[in-house]
Amino acid sequence: MAIVQKIVIGSDHAGYDLKQEIIAHLKSLGLEVLDVGTYSKDSCHYPEFAKALCQKIQSGEFKLGILICGTGIGMSMAANKCRGIRAACCSDSYSARLTREHNDANVLCFGARVIGPGTAEDMVDAFINTEFAGGRHQLRVDMLMDLEK
Ligand code: RB5
Repeated sequence: MAIVQKIVIGSDHAGYDLKQEIIAHLKSLGLEVLDVGTYSKDSCHYPEFAKALCQKIQSGEFKLGILICGTGIGMSMAANKCRGIRAACCSDSYSARLTREHNDANVLCFGARVIGPGTAEDMVDAFINTEFAGGRHQLRVDMLMDLEK
């Protein structure tokens, strides 16, 4: 059972095709999905879409988001510059699960040129099904967020 009923997703041109597959997967699980773009395979700039997605989380409208670019790296770098965002660039479902459990990550990033749709779906499942564990991890996340000050 997913910990959220709706999720926000974004990509650049490199992540566009994989994003369509992930949107279909999320919808098949019964989640409401907001796509903040890009809406075609025309070349574009990933920070623009990272910013649009992070604003949806910063406003409180969404708890979790997914960003896809070629490597996942540019998207995670951009998202982690936005206040309140904890973005994790992952390539395996173990990391996608643990970044929720230990880091309370609110954005999952991955690279369409790095992993295939099967691994991407497994990571998304791990991410949306895992609650933050709190406890000893809460202090560490608080320390992490203090770095924004
Ligand atoms: C676009 O060619 C590519 O640079 C972008 O998708 C991403 O991988 C950046 O980190």
